[in-house]
Amino acid sequence: MDMKTLRQQARERMNGACRVCPHCDGRACAGELPGMGGIRTAASFRANITALEKVCLRMRLIHEVRAPETACEVLGLPLSLPVLIAPLAGTTFNMGKGLPEERFAQVVTEGARSAGTIACTGDGTPEAFDCGLKAVEAVEGWGIPVIKPWAGDVFFERLERVAQAGCRVVGMDIDTAAITALAKSKRPVSPKSRAELSAIVEKTHALGLKFMLKGVLSVEDALAAEECGCDAIVVSNHGGRAFEAVPGTAAALPAIVRNVKEMTVLADGGVRSGADVLKMLALGARAVLIGRPAIIAGMGGEEEGVQMLLSRMQRQLAEGMLLTGCASVREAGPHLLA
Ligand SMILES: Cc1cc2nc3c(=O)[nH]c(=O)nc-3n(C[C@H](O)[C@H](O)[C@H](O)COP(=O)(O)O)c2cc1C
Repeated sequence: MDMKTLRQQARERMNGACRVCPHCDGRACAGELPGMGGIRTAASFRANITALEKVCLRMRLIHEVRAPETACEVLGLPLSLPVLIAPLAGTTFNMGKGLPEERFAQVVTEGARSAGTIACTGDGTPEAFDCGLKAVEAVEGWGIPVIKPWAGDVFFERLERVAQAGCRVVGMDIDTAAITALAKSKRPVSPKSRAELSAIVEKTHALGLKFMLKGVLSVEDALAAEECGCDAIVVSNHGGRAFEAVPGTAAALPAIVRNVKEMTVLADGGVRSGADVLKMLALGARAVLIGRPAIIAGMGGEEEGVQMLLSRMQRQLAEGMLLTGCASVREAGPHLLA
């Protein structure tokens, strides 16, 4: 399959929910949520794109690097490249019913695994969570389920199921703590106090898993997450879907990285190419997550499409490393910035 066919098939399958634009920047789908867009004006979706565009890398061509190394380890997981598939749920209400929820979860999980990396799975409705977990169980726990910040026992019930599935890492997307539809549902979500977050992390560690907090945008939250024992944070604004008034993630990332001590820092939002991956690494992220490009790839080309997308990103990343004199992603850092 070629990219043109993949994109055409994605456009048809998603039935208008995604225009599969030449550059996915939040303009065509602004305010389409449910859907693929950013919330309201989509300002924070666009901010992700513009913040990354402002970052430039330092070109270096007089060096000894010949075969850049993209393989790395994230939270103890060996990955062929520092790119994970972000949690992506709601095929029915977000993705134009392009594939059934269960099939889509399988596509991203399997596609990521065949490319040598890993997919997160999402939450929101019981169906979405169940389908994600089923897909992860089918690959012996090789996935990172990301649970919503449910109030009360719901979070802990899901956490136990993630542990039973054999996963090594679990996440919580705390930035959905105010999503109105969820807040009004029978299972409300809420922000977490330090005591609540510490209890969640403690329970996760007792079950033998690492804990990743997704949706951190401020130094204060990053430091609190570290103090509460989180193993990783994802600097994320949920792809501009949680709050329109926040900055792009590439703008928020450097200060967070400067202040965090040991915790692993990942980032997502607007990453569209290998060059974008290298920019995030140069800003201090250990690895990135990709959202919408993976939806298009999965809808258009199923497992093969996800694998194609990741292989293309890996090639582009290696190309960028050669052009900046970066021998290994482990060595990427601020010295690569222009
Ligand atoms: C259709 C759609 C569904 C999503 N579902 C979830 C989810 O269930 N859980 C979650 O933590 N994030 C979810 N996200 C956010 C992504 O995980 C990720 O943070 C975001 O898409 C990254 O930005 P990008 O799409 O520009 O790469 C979703 C995003 C989209 C577009």
